[in-house]
Amino acid sequence: MNIVNNLAIYESGKGNQQSIIFVHGFPYDHTMWDNQVDFLKDEFHCVTYDIRGLGKSEAGDGQFTMEMFVDDLFDIIDKLELKHPLLCGLSMGGYISLRAVERDQFKFSGLILCDTKSEADNTEAKLKRASGIKTINNEGLEKFIEATVPATFAKETIEKNKDIFDRTFERAKKENPVGVKGSLLAMLSRTDTTPYLENIKIPTLVISGTVDALTPPEVMRKMAEKISNSEFAVAPRAGHMAPLENPGFVNDMIKGFLKKV
Ligand code: MLT
Repeated sequence: MNIVNNLAIYESGKGNQQSIIFVHGFPYDHTMWDNQVDFLKDEFHCVTYDIRGLGKSEAGDGQFTMEMFVDDLFDIIDKLELKHPLLCGLSMGGYISLRAVERDQFKFSGLILCDTKSEADNTEAKLKRASGIKTINNEGLEKFIEATVPATFAKETIEKNKDIFDRTFERAKKENPVGVKGSLLAMLSRTDTTPYLENIKIPTLVISGTVDALTPPEVMRKMAEKISNSEFAVAPRAGHMAPLENPGFVNDMIKGFLKKV
């Protein structure tokens, strides 16, 4: 692990190979990409990191915006001297990736969007985030995690792959409440990147879990249709955490895509 600007960064593979930078979802950390890194590290330079305030990256005062998260991503790319990395983000990591591409798409050789969307929060979603912050303040982080994390997995995963669910759930409960609230603030104040989708020229792969309750396949298909150079895939037996729930499918899709980029 390396610390750059108070961010915990993890590298696997060799620096002279094509780099892929993975951006995790909320309220998780870089370990949600372990299956992809293990699968790809012999052929690619894989970079994961903990988003500010989550995992081992410091929370500071927790006053975060999506722009700060994108600045962090760009800083990591500059500090590690990554040349046109491929960018892969899930959910909140996808929000960061979409805004990063909107700011400077040609910094990247390609884009992978997993279980995410381009729209900003509507009023209902904003109020839900505000209520989440209140729950953390009044009842503690565990209560918030119990109310949110189960919905991000397919029922089938929770029943048949309980260890995957349990590991992620327990890890999320140990996050820093200040950092979790900071992510909620950043997400509720993020901008809508939908108008930019038609300007994305870099090759893009969009992957949705078949029973993703938060960003369903229909929403993701519409997003993919707006990106001219894109392909769309639905991961069977997966909810909102497709790379964790069906790593075999997601790994094959990513590898196939990487061969074309
Ligand atoms: C995530 O997985 O990153 C979150 O579900 C995103 C969100 O809450 O909008």
